[in-house]
Amino acid sequence: MATRPISRFVCTQCGAVTGKWAGRCETCGEWNSVADETVEAAPGLTAKPTKSNNRKITFTDLAGSAAPPQRTPTGIAELDRVLGGGLVPGSAILLGGDPGIGKSTILLQAAASLAGAGQRVLYISGEEAVEQVRMRARRLGLTGSPMELAAAINLRDIIASLETASGVTLVVIDSIQTMWLDQIDSAPGTVSQVRACSFELIRAAKTRGFAVVLVGHVTKDGAIAGPRVLEHMVDAVLYFEGDRGHQFRILRGVKNRFGATDEIGVFEMGEAGLSEVPNPSALFLAERRGHIAGSAVFAGLEGTRPVLVEIQCLLAANPGGSPRRSVIGWDGGRLSMLLAVLETRCGAKFQATDVYLNVAGGLRITEPAADLAVAAALVSAASDMPTDPGMVFFGEVGLSGEIRQVAQAEARLKEAEKLGFDAACLPRRVARGNRPLSPPPGITLREIGHLSDLVARFASADEKTKPHDKASPAPGATKSS
Ligand code: TYD
Ligand code: MG
Repeated sequence: MATRPISRFVCTQCGAVTGKWAGRCETCGEWNSVADETVEAAPGLTAKPTKSNNRKITFTDLAGSAAPPQRTPTGIAELDRVLGGGLVPGSAILLGGDPGIGKSTILLQAAASLAGAGQRVLYISGEEAVEQVRMRARRLGLTGSPMELAAAINLRDIIASLETASGVTLVVIDSIQTMWLDQIDSAPGTVSQVRACSFELIRAAKTRGFAVVLVGHVTKDGAIAGPRVLEHMVDAVLYFEGDRGHQFRILRGVKNRFGATDEIGVFEMGEAGLSEVPNPSALFLAERRGHIAGSAVFAGLEGTRPVLVEIQCLLAANPGGSPRRSVIGWDGGRLSMLLAVLETRCGAKFQATDVYLNVAGGLRITEPAADLAVAAALVSAASDMPTDPGMVFFGEVGLSGEIRQVAQAEARLKEAEKLGFDAACLPRRVARGNRPLSPPPGITLREIGHLSDLVARFASADEKTKPHDKASPAPGATKSS
């Protein structure tokens, strides 16, 4: 049966399909993202539209008898943490991130580690020639690894090879945007190609029982189909993020059908590739100097792991014009809200001031619990008085200035104690049946109920004459500096 081409328009950002072109995608609101894609109305690789194919599906109960999925640890602990313990057979994982952030590097390291442990690993590179991957492997000292490497983009050939390969644990496809299925009449990287190629690879993974990792680039201009169109097709979505100016890279799980989301893995990019950072708090606080106005340490939580980071704030007078608010690593809208609460409820003045806020170390914080630490940094900068260098802050700030409870206070306090902090400023426990907090013995609690309590502390004189010795290093900072 002859097939006829169908003209349709696809948003390269969200993958929405429409019958006509529009300057702005009606689904996600992105401008200039809708592109013309002519597709052949061809059946799938294996589907035969015959009557005999219409079999009845069977329904079953929820209990079942299947054991929990067997996981294969990759041997890279930070990656396994984000995956929820290791690779699940038959699962598909999308690894997204900006070009050059280190996706190929971490996958090569993971592949080599798995292969070294006796598992069969196939690495298919569509982006780099075999010699380029070999060069990277030499740099990483992995040339002795028994993993199998190929450079290919023709998906029909790849699927045919995967269907016959036996005992495979992991297949890496680097990247999905370079894969090409001859059945589809559009260029590699378009939404229809990316979707169809992923579908075939995921199907092969499910039937053959190997885990497949798809690498997807996220580009700002939307010229290449963003991996977002794949998010619903895969079992886990990991994003590799970080500032290329920093050596830290954060691997963040945003979706995981086999484990917890919001876990992070922390890596450091160095001469010999990515190395794991088992204690991120120490790393994020390494360059901190105590006794500087505008700095406060936030006891945060990333997934199940407490992470301490320094929030830095700088205020600069801007008498005329509209004041600037510049934020790195936190939400700009949240900062505006906090400034409004400080002005309206606590009488602080920020109208004629530029505010620059930075989360040191390149971490991006999404937790509302950071409100109190940001407020402390702001108030400290405004009063030109350092916060107590031995104190951590956490708590959510409400619109009336009240400090609200946050989850896992004890885990945060424990991490603070581990890094040498001796005090914490946190939400006041309310009588209403809250389980009593058992803080670690070395931590003094400063519970506050309203943001004005924090402002008052900076206004009071005793803050100026704190017992802390100026010569002693701040907790968490490296002793040598
Ligand atoms: P890469 O893994 O190629 O990124 P992606 O696949 O996400 O595009 O990482 C490339 C960057 O990492 C490049 O800018 C160089 C840097 N890098 C190191 O700093 N050290 C190393 O050992 C390696 C292999 C790469
Ligand atoms: Mg790459």
